[in-house]
Amino acid sequence: MNSYINENQSRFLDELFDLLRIPSVSADPQYKNDVTRCALFVKEQLLKVGCTKAEICETAGHPIVYAERFVNENLPTVLVYGHYDVQPADPLELWHTPPFEPIIRDGNIYARGSGDDKGQFFMHLKAMEMLLQVNGEMPCNIKFMIEGEEEVGSDNLGIFVKNNKEKLKSDAILISDTCIISNETPSLTVGLRGLSYVEVSLTGPNRDLHSGMYGGAVENPINVLCEMIASLKDKDGKITIPGFYDKVEVISAEERAEMAKAPFNEEDYKKALNIDAVFGEKGYSTPERVSIRPTLDVNGIWGGYTGEGAKTVLPSKAHAKISMRLVPNQEPDEITELFANYFKSIAPATVKVEVNPHHGGEPVVTETDSHAYRAAVRAFENVWGKTPIPTREGGSIPIVALFKKELGISSILMGFGLHSDAIHSPNEHYGVFNFLKGIETIADFYKEIGK
Ligand code: BES
Ligand code: MN
Ligand code: MN
Repeated sequence: MNSYINENQSRFLDELFDLLRIPSVSADPQYKNDVTRCALFVKEQLLKVGCTKAEICETAGHPIVYAERFVNENLPTVLVYGHYDVQPADPLELWHTPPFEPIIRDGNIYARGSGDDKGQFFMHLKAMEMLLQVNGEMPCNIKFMIEGEEEVGSDNLGIFVKNNKEKLKSDAILISDTCIISNETPSLTVGLRGLSYVEVSLTGPNRDLHSGMYGGAVENPINVLCEMIASLKDKDGKITIPGFYDKVEVISAEERAEMAKAPFNEEDYKKALNIDAVFGEKGYSTPERVSIRPTLDVNGIWGGYTGEGAKTVLPSKAHAKISMRLVPNQEPDEITELFANYFKSIAPATVKVEVNPHHGGEPVVTETDSHAYRAAVRAFENVWGKTPIPTREGGSIPIVALFKKELGISSILMGFGLHSDAIHSPNEHYGVFNFLKGIETIADFYKEIGK
């Protein structure tokens, strides 16, 4: 390991722990003050590591932290994007240690946000600190934009980007908010899925009914909802919504063969999740099903009585939240409309249907034929001694497509998480190895892009 990182690692971790102690849950209004406090903390840290300017940019929602250090106009400018907001920590009872009291166990930092995304964007601050301390100056100009609403759809960031094109002008965008294949097999993310997200509600009778007096004669909206949802996928795991696959990019056999070279062990995969069998669209491998193919999943379903004991009730309403992960060239608004029309068309006359769209996001494939991408590859080669494997990932970062559209810049997705980090789940963690190695790789990227 490089000596500056070695000598300063315990302080780096202490500082990260201070950041992880702030419960910046963007989805829950109860944490509004903590989110604001977190933005201020990030701003202070950015100034501390050597940004010459740092500001809090208010939005209609949570603030954006912007900072920069300009070196000289002959050097390229890198815009670092990350998010300081985190997912809610519940269910709390499943955490082995409290989510906002970070702790290291078995080489991992356990805390909500450790991997997504605090531990990851913080590496960029430490990489900058190191370059300034060791070399006296940055090898490139740098801008930071760290937002507080990624986990709730980045709507206000979208507006901010559209209104601040000059301020955000840069030669490359660098993001650490994705995964590598493993600590033995580094990779660079070159694609992300998009997202269409809807909430559906069915209404049957105008009030909850006695299930003995009415059951059998009045249809139960929960039963109907289950049947409707079940019919959205066929036996081969194909989504049945007409037109759903029309625009899906067809990947050539060559490209699929290339992707299949990335190491993947299905037995280990099943064991890690404690499942006896995998499931998915017929004709595709597990890695393909979570990268180049779209999906439809129920995220939550509720209605009727779910309290203690039994209550005999035929409910008036049934609800579900449904997400569809999208691949190039599917468009979120179009898919949402296809869903809504079809879902309404398959409802029986016994229920009324409502479909409410939530935030969505476009899928992306990033450029690999660029100076910035080559610099990222070289950084991995220099620091890991291995060429990173390009991979497409299943998750979504909606702002990446918007960066391309509004700023004309393709992003470098240089994340260092592992799929086993349990992001969004109880006991989220991030490897100390990944944190320190990430700092080194990012610092090397800044050097390479400045060459
Ligand atoms: N960092 C994740 C996305 C991610 C994780 C991409 C792992 C690739 C690998 C991000 O914070 C996230 O959770 N995004 C949301 C989308 C958003 C609209 C709520 C997602 O993918 O569900
Ligand atoms: Mn994230
Ligand atoms: Mn996330």
